[in-house]
Amino acid sequence: MTLFKRTHSCGQLCEKEIGQEVVLMGWVATRRDHGGLIFVDLRDREGMTQIVFNPTIDPKVHELGKHLRSEYVLAIRGKVERRPAGMENSKLVTGAIEIKVIEFELLNSSKTPPFEIDERCEAGEEVRLKYRYLDLRRPPLQKNIILRHKILQATRQYLSDHGFLEIETPYLTKSTPEGARDYLVPARLSPGRFYALPQSPQLFKQLLMVSGFDRYFQIVRCFRDEDLRADRQPEFTQIDIEMSFITPEELFPIMEGLISQLWEIGLGQKIKTPFPQISHREATEKYGLDKPDLRFGLPLQEVTRVFKGSGFKVFADVVSKGGMIKVLKLSGVELSRKDLDDLTAVVGIYGAKGLAWIKILPNEWQSPIVKFFSDAEKTSLKAELNLQAGDIVLFVADQPKVVQESLGHLRQHLGAKLKLYDPKEYLFTWVTDFPMFEYSEQEKRLVAVHHPFTSPKTEDIPLLQKSPETCRAEAYDLILNGNEIGGGSIRIHSSEVQSQVFELLKIGAEEAKEKFGFLLDALEFGAPPHGGIAFGLDRILMLLASADSIRDVIAFPKTQKGTDPMCDAPSTVSAKQLDELGIQVKKK
Ligand code: AMO
Ligand code: AMP
Repeated sequence: MTLFKRTHSCGQLCEKEIGQEVVLMGWVATRRDHGGLIFVDLRDREGMTQIVFNPTIDPKVHELGKHLRSEYVLAIRGKVERRPAGMENSKLVTGAIEIKVIEFELLNSSKTPPFEIDERCEAGEEVRLKYRYLDLRRPPLQKNIILRHKILQATRQYLSDHGFLEIETPYLTKSTPEGARDYLVPARLSPGRFYALPQSPQLFKQLLMVSGFDRYFQIVRCFRDEDLRADRQPEFTQIDIEMSFITPEELFPIMEGLISQLWEIGLGQKIKTPFPQISHREATEKYGLDKPDLRFGLPLQEVTRVFKGSGFKVFADVVSKGGMIKVLKLSGVELSRKDLDDLTAVVGIYGAKGLAWIKILPNEWQSPIVKFFSDAEKTSLKAELNLQAGDIVLFVADQPKVVQESLGHLRQHLGAKLKLYDPKEYLFTWVTDFPMFEYSEQEKRLVAVHHPFTSPKTEDIPLLQKSPETCRAEAYDLILNGNEIGGGSIRIHSSEVQSQVFELLKIGAEEAKEKFGFLLDALEFGAPPHGGIAFGLDRILMLLASADSIRDVIAFPKTQKGTDPMCDAPSTVSAKQLDELGIQVKKK
């Protein structure tokens, strides 16, 4: 190691240190050789400092400076000086000063990196992830990872201050019920048996309530083998929380306090509490989605009634088959033919068979479909939607699920395209009163909308018998600007209600016993009423950091295909390892 002793970081020195002698250590970010003077930007995690090699100070040192290259590691001793007038960089903390190098030591050299290590990296994601340790040297990623540290610390502090105990739960465990595919781990000591990595610590945190710990939290890795997207990773981190003797009304303010604290730490911003609440039903009827972005209006409006028995066959058929027709009405917006085609493609993704439209002009309605409308339909539509010249109406007719989803996503799309909101605004919303169940066409049975341990709303318990599809759950999600950042529920603490719910989900007594028997047993030993929530930490960070992808806030993320190009995981294993596990790999 070097004899130099570091005195400051590369993001620290300013006018007040002018005249001092300092020692910095870091990486060569850039080197500019101006013939006489050599300028190097020296980088560490705190920032960048300009250092200058001047032949008039020491020709030998200057000569050596000529051999420096990007990413070489240096220790330099030098004097802090004011930059010449006009050469300051107001964007840098250190932008008013530079260091005149007196001596330096080359601590290590570097191969030429495979991509430039700077703010904006043009390299593709695959190569960035292969050399993730270099990618992580880039200032924006350093900033994100430092933010992640602060948010983790603040979360622990806040929850500990509010009486929550941090308790760890196993990773090698049994399948949990969050609805994705499990990652399995073969158990050598029990041949033919497997652990499942937890999709969440759901069952364990409930057991901790039965044990009397009252308030629990854990910042915990969860594993889900599902299709990946920009906001999904196969392993991700939850802030997992559970509380005893709690109602949603008591839980919300504590969670709002946590989120406010994180925004204060992350962005120095005060956010308004309490957060508004919207029922699942209102969210889907009005905005099409269960995670509505409420920074703008543009509600979906229903016009099914207008087109009962219509001359426009597409609409009439949908209505006669129990479907619905909904519209988005835009005012004061120009949309070209191409714009309309693009919008049709958006709704197509969600199964809509078309996007009918009408442009209301001062003297006529321009549209490929109005020729099929009767005068009465036109009058009724005009009144229903209060149509004015300049309006554009976009229609989707289909089964309710398709209509809501496609128009809901179209609404989000238009919100961004037409700049209907301030991208810097943070709008949090609780979505409450989710349905307990939904019918799965694929499985031909009811499935739990949240998970099978979620309690029905007390007043809806009688509906479990009569009409389970209308039974509402005591479940809630926290939505930020159209992103689901957390979800939770009050749990079932009575073994009878739990059995009833399993029955409705067609989980037989045997199967329930085999899968969750330990939880059912525990519910019979004085389980307290309890409930909780889990926040998606990576999603919260993605939004705090204004990152495009969840991968930008995770030190070592996976690609969209679930691989790690750096360490080449997943990989094959030796025949000996497989043999020990009693596993034979099928040839595809
Ligand atoms: P849920 O499945 O809604 O609830 O998950 C909670 C939150 O975790 C985040 N999340 C993800 N983030 C990144 N990648 C993923 N693949 C991913 N999947 C989920 C989301 C989500 O809101 N046990 C329950 C919680 C409870 O009831 O207390 C649960 O896991 O932000
Ligand atoms: P078509 O009669 O199929 O040529 O459709 C006439 C117009 O209605 C086109 O603009 C289609 O995009 C639109 N359209 C067709 N099916 C639907 C539907 N299910 N919902 C809304 N618009 C539709």
